[in-house]
Amino acid sequence: MNTVYFDPDFTDAVRRQQLYEGQLFVYSPRPSSIALCEFARGMIEQSFKGMDPRTAQDKMDVEEYAAILGQLKPNFIHHPNSKELLSKLLDEMGCDREKTYFDVPRMRSSTSDGYLTTGIAYAWHPHRDTWYSAPACQINYWIPIYEIKSDNAMAFHPQYWSQPVRNDSSGYNYAEWNNRYRYTAAQFTKEDPRPLPRATEPLKLDPQIRLISPPGGIILFSAAQMHSSVPNTSGLTRFSIDFRTVHLDDVAEFRGAPNVDAECTGTTMNDYHRASDLSHISEDLVSAYNTPPRGASK
Ligand SMILES: [Fe+2]
Repeated sequence: MNTVYFDPDFTDAVRRQQLYEGQLFVYSPRPSSIALCEFARGMIEQSFKGMDPRTAQDKMDVEEYAAILGQLKPNFIHHPNSKELLSKLLDEMGCDREKTYFDVPRMRSSTSDGYLTTGIAYAWHPHRDTWYSAPACQINYWIPIYEIKSDNAMAFHPQYWSQPVRNDSSGYNYAEWNNRYRYTAAQFTKEDPRPLPRATEPLKLDPQIRLISPPGGIILFSAAQMHSSVPNTSGLTRFSIDFRTVHLDDVAEFRGAPNVDAECTGTTMNDYHRASDLSHISEDLVSAYNTPPRGASK
């Protein structure tokens, strides 16, 4: 990894190739991303009933706060407007809506000063999404909903792009994890017992890259990129949207970023919806990626 592209005039094919080589992209806010953020802001502000959502954490106890997020986040994820706005955004980003598939957009929050860092507002330790059964061709989009600063952003650790890290992803299988832990996040307000893959050796997190864009700006990175939540010391809760895409040609041809150290099993491939009609990727292709859990009979 050596380059951060800012508003480049690339085709989607060239951009995907660059992402698979570890480069990062930042795009200025555009009408569709601004619309998505405005929609998200409306839902957030309604949930916090007139309080400034960025400082609401200072005014309520953590269980009450987690309960609000526990309703707000799934409501945003599953709202039909979210998918529709996302599909428009992909179009505006030059993606072919017949061949680009996305998973539902997530709303994330990062509270300040360790107020809530588990469960529904998990503060992400450094990881690659490919440790969590994401395919090598997955591309991640990340969009701040409100202004962000360096001390409530996300961080990339590009020195690990081509350097393997010892990790415990071999114990992770996507389907098994979902069966056990899906819908449980809001209950974990003090500790988080979910076995999330992580590095099992110390990481050098500096130098790191934090990309700061205005609200509605779009950061793109490969699922194989090492990234983390910056410990939020800004005094303000950060709210952001992220989602993932795959391109059917890359799925069919098994293209993507090199895998240097992921050992998880299973696949997220059945989660993606085609931008044009929300259909899924064919069962044949999903099963081609769906490696069985270790020790399971084939
Ligand atoms: Fe991630």
